[in-house]
Amino acid sequence: MQTLPRVLCSSDAISSATSPATTRAQGLGLLGCGTVGSGVARRLLASHPGLIRGIAVRDPHKSRDIAWDDFSSDAFDLVDDPAVRVVVECIGGLGLARELILRAIARGKDVVTANKDLIATEGPWLAAFAARTGASLRYEAAVGGAIPIVRALGSSLAGEHVLEIGGVLNGTTNFILDAMESGARYDEALEEAQRLGFAESDPRSDVDGHDAAHKLAILAGLAFRRPSVSRSLGRRGIADISSADIEAGAARGLRLKLLAVARRAGDAIEAGVTPAYVPEDHPFARARGAENVVRVLGRGCGPLVFSGAGAGGDATASAVVADVLAALESRERVPAHDGEDLVVRSLRAPVLVRFADGRVVMGDAISLDALEASGAGGRRDVASIIPVWSDAA
Ligand code: HSE
Repeated sequence: MQTLPRVLCSSDAISSATSPATTRAQGLGLLGCGTVGSGVARRLLASHPGLIRGIAVRDPHKSRDIAWDDFSSDAFDLVDDPAVRVVVECIGGLGLARELILRAIARGKDVVTANKDLIATEGPWLAAFAARTGASLRYEAAVGGAIPIVRALGSSLAGEHVLEIGGVLNGTTNFILDAMESGARYDEALEEAQRLGFAESDPRSDVDGHDAAHKLAILAGLAFRRPSVSRSLGRRGIADISSADIEAGAARGLRLKLLAVARRAGDAIEAGVTPAYVPEDHPFARARGAENVVRVLGRGCGPLVFSGAGAGGDATASAVVADVLAALESRERVPAHDGEDLVVRSLRAPVLVRFADGRVVMGDAISLDALEASGAGGRRDVASIIPVWSDAA
């Protein structure tokens, strides 16, 4: 676990956290007003007039379709405003957004963010930092868009012994695979996903599996109640998937999905992100367009399937606003995890091998790491090797 930056642990920063001005304030500072931020602003301006104290954006003069005309370019000033108690970060990424969140936590404010990159790489220590300053950190919108899975794992399922968590966690890649099933080309489907506001600003994060790995790390931390970060997860994306791979699956009653799953395997946790064939009647196969499907398999609760809008401004804004309301009422914090960091090993699954001459054969179970290392086994006659999902017996 990372140590706290000295400057942010100073007694000044922590004492300002509990100043009466901050504790009494009810105002909200919105950082960023893009696809998600503008959705949040629109909803809150309609439902809670007077709540938004300021909106900080990179270019205050850009025209935006929301009823607000006093944009500021000084996000740090807005975070520091004593009238702001809840800071909503909708900038994304690990640069400025991270600095602003650190500052807000240092000042003991309630932070709401959709920033999966940050939570998946630094969430455990940020939660520990927040616990020290009296701040709170909520990130329902970081996983599954509108699907309330973060809160479900943190509270409703807090007593469950989770055996497996995951499924289809990236809307953009699901949209692309779905469109390719219907005959679209990969690049046109990706362009459409970008136009509809599903993709990340750099869509390589979607198609290379980074976004899904971030979300899986967050879910695994919550499900197994241990600090978890995404760098330890094996990951393959969909950039190499061809229509022939999709057709080979369809001919066998299988749909191709980008799966992100973590599950108990003996004493270990097996986890990873990979394109995989899934039987057509499996819950993971049901995600359509930009939908996500998250399945929690628990010893007591059995399989619970959560599905719905996994990407897009409105869906994500819905989850952000729910966190804002929880922060205002000081309800349902995401619990901070402690203990040893979660150790994962690579996911294993049997594979479907498609040869260049059109033959398709089922291969033995192999780990994602081994698959990554061997590629197509260096053989020209092998067109693709794709795992076939099998539920634990
Ligand atoms: N780019 C992400 C996705 C947005 O496609 O799932 C929601 O996190």
